[in-house]
Amino acid sequence: MGAIMPEGTAVRRMFAGISRRYDFANHLLSGGMDFYWRARLVRAVAAAAPRDVADLATGSGDVAFALRKRLGADVRITGYDFCPPMLEEARRKGTRDNRFADIVFLEGDCLHLPLEDSSVDALTIAFGLRNLENRHRGLCEMRRVLRPGGHLHILEFTQPDRWFRPFYFFYLKNLLPFVAWIVCGNRQAYDYLAGSIESFPTKESLTAEIRAAGFTTVRATGLTASIVALHTAS
Ligand SMILES: C[S@@+](CC[C@H](N)C(=O)[O-])C[C@H]1O[C@@H](n2cnc3c(N)ncnc32)[C@H](O)[C@@H]1O
Repeated sequence: MGAIMPEGTAVRRMFAGISRRYDFANHLLSGGMDFYWRARLVRAVAAAAPRDVADLATGSGDVAFALRKRLGADVRITGYDFCPPMLEEARRKGTRDNRFADIVFLEGDCLHLPLEDSSVDALTIAFGLRNLENRHRGLCEMRRVLRPGGHLHILEFTQPDRWFRPFYFFYLKNLLPFVAWIVCGNRQAYDYLAGSIESFPTKESLTAEIRAAGFTTVRATGLTASIVALHTAS
């Protein structure tokens, strides 16, 4: 399968166009499974008790909010994204709950992170890696900004278990874009979603890519018949 490496400007424009309906579409199209997947990510982050976490490709901020609910109030949480309308959504949601008041949402491109070398204990990126124009460069940036001993946690779609593939790809290619068109009025964004998932590497290939960016330890866990995988690397 040829990997789709999308063009950054087109990705930014696409997310700007769906920012107001992104959350609703997400929860609907995943049947609510996205809450569980993010909870697994947050549990993995909490296990290493970081002092600060940068949530990359934070979008409307759901990972950052889930982290705040689970981690101590002394843990610094910052969300980065390169799409201003998605960040506006995150900031708007952050004002609804006092617990989120100290989360900072900043503009930042995963290919040129506005962070010093070896400056962060933990990085999270949920459903963002697939959208990077140059995955290797993004992973090298993540390695650069992590402190020695810090952890990178990647939550992303992967290639599902063999028995599940026919149902899953039928859903992705036929039902999902249609429902997304009704909900978001944007069929193109969800055609892109189906294509980018289908061409994304397997857990094993992504593990090799993460190692190629300089990480020495990588653990991959498939979730929900491996619709999604959680990779933790250090
Ligand atoms: C599918 S959303 C995921 C949002 C959120 N992490 C979640 O779990 O719902 C992907 C996000 O990645 C962002 N993104 C894509 N490429 C990026 C890049 N190079 N740098 C920063 N953000 C990026 C998009 O703007 C979008 O908000």
